[in-house]
Amino acid sequence: MRIVRDRRQVTALCREWRRRDSLKLAFVPTMGNLHDGHLALVRHARERGDRVLVSIFVNPLQFDRPDDLARYPRTLEADTKKLAEAGVDALFWPEVGEMYPDGGATRARVVVSGLSEELEGGSRPGHFDGVATVVAKLFHLVQPDVAIFGEKDYQQLLVIRAMVDSLDFPVLVDALPTVRESDGLALSSRNGRLSDAARARAPELYRCLCDTAEACLLEPDQWPKIFPELVANAQERLSAAGFRCDYLSVRRADDLGEPRVGDRDLILLAAAWLEDVRLIDNLRLQYGRFAGAR
Ligand code: PAJ
Repeated sequence: MRIVRDRRQVTALCREWRRRDSLKLAFVPTMGNLHDGHLALVRHARERGDRVLVSIFVNPLQFDRPDDLARYPRTLEADTKKLAEAGVDALFWPEVGEMYPDGGATRARVVVSGLSEELEGGSRPGHFDGVATVVAKLFHLVQPDVAIFGEKDYQQLLVIRAMVDSLDFPVLVDALPTVRESDGLALSSRNGRLSDAARARAPELYRCLCDTAEACLLEPDQWPKIFPELVANAQERLSAAGFRCDYLSVRRADDLGEPRVGDRDLILLAAAWLEDVRLIDNLRLQYGRFAGAR
């Protein structure tokens, strides 16, 4: 596996692959500390492309809290091993100064308005501008045919799709379902920061989403009227279990708008703090169909 640290080199390498053999390039952007969720994206990339490039870059622009950025786990050696074993062709691992030569005060930013401002964006102002900006930069540097993202960060996925559509990026965006621990907890690089006690309580977030989805599915004719009460119950249950809920909301799956009468494809989204770790999760809520797994 090649490890590339330089912007011009990564562009040259990807261009060479495309030009020499018309190879199809699949790209998986990450912030590292790789787990089986990331590796599922990498495996999918292998199927979708002739060459697979992964990036590891802890992007300062998308962190709203300096302590979160400072404490974000950086495990390059273990990550490199996992990627090489997974058959990745090249890793792009730039320094912050390589991506932001002006120290982060980039003159242009990508803003996906509306979608970026609530839920995750409401709790973490500017977060999605940082995500969209770095993904736009990476897409320009790599020019992939297909890029793979996880549904774990569902709002992020929609923000990227909106950016790609609105700005005509010539890239196909593929999404994969959330990979979970056997007790239901969604894999996340931040899980490693949970204390033993918090780790034992953490699966309650997904269980709560599953139970709320089931309760919604019992009365599909009452959508969306019954949602506020069921959401309030879920929030109470999370507080009783020791979570501090940032948001728990039922939204339309395609644009995260408020559900309206007749909508059938919805999604439950939640973010909650457990001690000093912020967890996010979601569960699709489709008329007549339970999407959870227990
Ligand atoms: P990161 O959190 O490292 O996630 C990289 C990719 O892995 C994202 O597409 C994310 O949705 C996916 N992912 C994370 N946990 C997952 C899980 N349990 N199951 C399936 N997929 C999972 O998301 C980012 O980095 C950054 O915001 C990035 C897009 C790289 C821009 O900086």
